[in-house]
Amino acid sequence: MEKLIVHGGCRLRGSVKIGGSKNASLPILAASLLTPDTVKIRHVPDVSDTNYMLQILNSLGASVERSSGTVRIDSMDGISASASYDQVRKMRASICLLGPLMARLHRCTLPLPGGCVIGDRPVDLHIRAMQALGAQVRNSGGNLYLEAPNGLVGTTVDMRGENGPTVLGTDNLMMAAVLAKGVTVIESAAREPEVVDLANFLNKMGAKIEGAGTRRITIIGVDQLTGCDHTVIPDRIEAGTFMVAAAMMGDGVTLRCICQEHLESVSALLTECGHHLEFNNRGDVVTITPAHSPRSGKIVTAPYPGFPTDMQAQMTALFALTPGISVVKETIFPQRFMHCSELKRMGANIKVDNGAAVITGVERLSGAPVMASDLRASAALVLAALAAEGVTEIHRLYHIDRGYERIDEKLQDLGAAIKRAADSESGD
Ligand code: EPU
Repeated sequence: MEKLIVHGGCRLRGSVKIGGSKNASLPILAASLLTPDTVKIRHVPDVSDTNYMLQILNSLGASVERSSGTVRIDSMDGISASASYDQVRKMRASICLLGPLMARLHRCTLPLPGGCVIGDRPVDLHIRAMQALGAQVRNSGGNLYLEAPNGLVGTTVDMRGENGPTVLGTDNLMMAAVLAKGVTVIESAAREPEVVDLANFLNKMGAKIEGAGTRRITIIGVDQLTGCDHTVIPDRIEAGTFMVAAAMMGDGVTLRCICQEHLESVSALLTECGHHLEFNNRGDVVTITPAHSPRSGKIVTAPYPGFPTDMQAQMTALFALTPGISVVKETIFPQRFMHCSELKRMGANIKVDNGAAVITGVERLSGAPVMASDLRASAALVLAALAAEGVTEIHRLYHIDRGYERIDEKLQDLGAAIKRAADSESGD
């Protein structure tokens, strides 16, 4: 196991290149199972979640080659319909194999991914989607067994759940519907850029999808899909995390390879808090100058284009050092506040109650040993540690390696005093 050792108090300066999106890559990699032809996917971040997905594809019988961000996958005939629990439990996003396996093989066995630290993570909407297309679903011994002996048939499905639309649920339905008979209409579809990227990828393979990025997606089923070459969109959450780092302790930080359009809600909030953001004309480079007198802010997380739940922990770290009272209301995963207890150990003043965190800015945080609990919580701890006085050790680094490519090296390049070290901590 590894930990991060961070010496707080340095200013960040220089430029950093943002990688391809983890959350777009995962369903796109899974979608490679939809064709026996070769697919080439570029800009896939080298993080443990994409590596797990490639291992699962490999164990299902696909041949996988990876070379500096470009992945080549061949899923010729003989693909297996069953994934093992050992592989699936490592990554909740493995649920997005459901759609491609059902489309290609009309049956699959997938261990239920279970909950995680950010909440319950049900899959009822994924199941509802497959049933709507004609699959019979059985849940037994921790596995989901799905079968559609006569193939999948298009229909209209409303994917809205209690907490709004589902991203991977929309992805699964889209991937199942591309090879179904007839037309599928997804109502209350997720509008996230990652859903649009998947639709673009599928259309390059020969699918007929319209409306991705709106609340209604229409898919006309086709008989087969072919190989293609696709470049994944930039990771808006990695970009947002570095924007917050730059607002907290930057001294002229520039991010390259971003997509301005995908960052609007995060940019608007940082601007409201007084930080200065300057995008280039193409919208793929931004320079952030921190506010002289930063202002507190209010976030209510919401599905895209609202404020992303995946950015609220990092903003909480910024608010912890911003004068005044800030509020973070989490509507998507109401229990996603594990980072707050660790930030409090560093001296933050945060009260969590009823799905909201109320943060009263303090003048300084102090370094402390802290524990990463999930991917974005760990990012928040890294930001707090960089701004704190003294040394912070962040244990359970594997959480951050799930979704941030070489975060320690990228921060070192900006001047941060941060390094990886072996950790003797037992892990419980
Ligand atoms: N939900 C249900 N039933 C379902 C599925 C979801 O009730 O069958 C609920 C969830 O409990 C939640 C809401 O619907 O309250 C939205 O969850 P969603 O299904 O959209 O989440 P997801 O697709 O499993 C993706 C990202 C998450 C991100 C969420 C929300 C990937 C691989 N994961 O998860 O990313 O937080 O959308 O935007 O794309 C992360 O990167 O750190 C991360 C957790």
